[in-house]
Amino acid sequence: MNTVVIGAQWGDEGKGKIVDYLAKKADVIVRFAGGANAGHTIVYNNEEYALHLIPSGVIHPEKKVILGAGMVIDPKALFDEISMLESRGVKTKGRLFVSDRAHIVLPGYIKIDKELDAARKTPIGTTGRGIGITYSMKSRRDGIRIADLCWKEKLLELKDEDRVFLEPFIPDLQAMSIDMCSYFAECCAGANVLFEGAQGALLDLDLGTYPFVSSGVSAAAGAALGGMTGPRSIDRILGVFKAYSTRVGNGPFPAEFSAQDAEQDALCKFVRETGREYGVTTGRPRRCGYLDLVALRYACRVNSIDTLVMTHLDVYNTLDSIKACVAYEIEGAKTDNFPAAIPALLKAKPVLRCFEGWNKNISGCKSFNELPEPARNYIAFIEEYCKTKIGIISLGYERNQTIELQS
Ligand code: IMO
Ligand code: MG
Repeated sequence: MNTVVIGAQWGDEGKGKIVDYLAKKADVIVRFAGGANAGHTIVYNNEEYALHLIPSGVIHPEKKVILGAGMVIDPKALFDEISMLESRGVKTKGRLFVSDRAHIVLPGYIKIDKELDAARKTPIGTTGRGIGITYSMKSRRDGIRIADLCWKEKLLELKDEDRVFLEPFIPDLQAMSIDMCSYFAECCAGANVLFEGAQGALLDLDLGTYPFVSSGVSAAAGAALGGMTGPRSIDRILGVFKAYSTRVGNGPFPAEFSAQDAEQDALCKFVRETGREYGVTTGRPRRCGYLDLVALRYACRVNSIDTLVMTHLDVYNTLDSIKACVAYEIEGAKTDNFPAAIPALLKAKPVLRCFEGWNKNISGCKSFNELPEPARNYIAFIEEYCKTKIGIISLGYERNQTIELQS
């Protein structure tokens, strides 16, 4: 069984926890997109691990993990992360690999990323990790891949400071490098592979709120390319979403809590503190908003999501009522389709539907039937609206705070 897990919103949906949870049934976990712009938090045995590049399945000591071909890898960030894991007893030797087709992020690219974004009239608010520049060097065919590290002429084309930076990492990168095609054929025949996405559907270069997106393929389709498998080898696609919405950086966010509305502003602060909505990579406070069902259904449709995974439902534990966005009003017209045009998204006012809250601590619930009726009603409405089943619900950071609704 080959499973793809993607974010179904603007990133930070709790993919790290869900991948760690699902990893117990996988043999190999492959990250297929993005780079050190991602921030995945995993809590295991009261220990918290913040990962940026290494697949979240790495915490399971017996699993193989691969940084896939669709990734952009900053060697310093990678080896810092490996050192962090090793110092905390997570052994990586012999089970952590890098695709020879993955691209390398160089210090010069990071510098340009920061300068370019600062010079934009409306900055994207990038994470400053050189992601967009590395992907554009790749598209220009001027990038450098792990496989190119043995190519002397190619290395000589690099700027001196980038080459000086890269050289000490070359032996270790080469030692971890694999040809994913033969690795899958020879070492993973019949294995269960879990393809781990980064960012989210609405940050995808093609499907997201362009240009306020990241530059990698965070959509489910990215698992096929960046994971070096054909689309036909993918058996199921899971989309992770939070019971509300967040976004980091600039760009349209139709269901965002309005700072001008006292009730929404209070809700924003409550959600941010209760849900710990601060960036794992940059520490920035995340923008928060109502669950946007228009955007979520769009993500389900364009990624063929079979099963949704809902996280952070416990954040709403103490509320008497909750709201979700079920349509947009754009210049007086109502729509429940997700537009491509940024001006339309910026003008969109959320049409909200009110649900009864449960006002009860559900963090310890062990089954769907244990959830209070208002919580079950909220879940049923989302399934009906998106025409997609919710298969897993997360009620806290720990692995055991997870309910499975269907296998
Ligand atoms: P995970 O995997 C949330 C956002 C940045 C910025 C835009 C472009 O933790 O869900 P980039 O540095 O990628 O060029 O920035 O994308 N962004 C994320 N937001 N979660 C992420 O990853 C993100 N990765 C990038 O904030 O708005
Ligand atoms: Mg994150």
